[in-house]
Amino acid sequence: MDSNRRPDTMARITTKELADSFIEEQVALVREQVGDKKVLLALSGGVDSSVVAALLIKAIGKQLYCVHVNHGLMRKDESENVIKVFKDELDANLIYVDATDRFLNLLAGVAEPERKRKIIGAEFINVFADEARKLEGISFLAQGTIYPDILESVKQAEGKKAVKSHHNVGGLPEDLKFSLVEPLKLLFKDEVRVVGEALGLPHAMVYRQPFPGPGLGVRCLGAITRDRLAALREADAILRDEFDKCGLAEKVWQYFVVVPDMTSVGVKDESRYEGWPAIIRAVNTKDAMTATIEEIPYSVLHKITERITSEVPGINRVLMDLTPKPTGTIEWE
Ligand code: XMP
Repeated sequence: MDSNRRPDTMARITTKELADSFIEEQVALVREQVGDKKVLLALSGGVDSSVVAALLIKAIGKQLYCVHVNHGLMRKDESENVIKVFKDELDANLIYVDATDRFLNLLAGVAEPERKRKIIGAEFINVFADEARKLEGISFLAQGTIYPDILESVKQAEGKKAVKSHHNVGGLPEDLKFSLVEPLKLLFKDEVRVVGEALGLPHAMVYRQPFPGPGLGVRCLGAITRDRLAALREADAILRDEFDKCGLAEKVWQYFVVVPDMTSVGVKDESRYEGWPAIIRAVNTKDAMTATIEEIPYSVLHKITERITSEVPGINRVLMDLTPKPTGTIEWE
């Protein structure tokens, strides 16, 4: 039987009871596969890698080594949250690498979106491989592969053309060949979330909106600068905070801020104030292939505008992107 094919008879995991029995089964399988060997995992803090981490902590405890690479393109407080949940609460072996300077130095002056993606993906491998080499005696690599990833690879193998190179991470270098542990590979995203909650992960982590591998790097448009990236991070945090407060976070699939590499003339304290615009994007979709625009009450938009323009240095206007996909892709780059 092809182990990458979901059997037609496999029940959809929709309840805590079904999730508990999936977890029990996977814990036994992982223990059998891994024995007393060590396992490495790149823990981004996204839903899939977080659920794999929690599952493996349950199965093999300190035989799991999690590496969290902060590429400097994370959202506000995101890396801190990963440390809090996995190191402080779940007592994981967590190696935190602040690689902000490595990434931002390589990206300096690079404006072309696909080149930015390639640089971020390749450097991610370099940083992760450096950490893997420092750890001795690792035999396995755990990955948060889920069923749509497998279906997507089949499509790519059939030669379908991609609009963007979404695949964030290529293979590891030749000297780092590990066997794979992929306990979620037959699950759909909604099932991964049910399993995550059954494992006791925080609701906000398990139901968090998708966030691209290149992170804020593809939302700080054109060549990234540290000051514009900082403004984007703050503006995005305000948007998320206001969406949380008014309940929109539960209704909108993906919402974020984009900051383009342009300024306009504004006025502040009776003086000329040149600044960047913050562009709000809030979309709903089922599969990210097409997307519609969520209606946001004007009162919420006014509040967000008021907060961003008064709290974020460098931003003097707030705009809203009303373009569905197509013709706009969800991300601007
Ligand atoms: P687009 O912009 O193609 O986005 O309409 C569709 C979904 O994919 C996410 N996205 C990415 N995810 N690496 C990722 O992991 C990427 O390079 C990337 N680019 C876009 C986007 O956030 C949306 O959810």
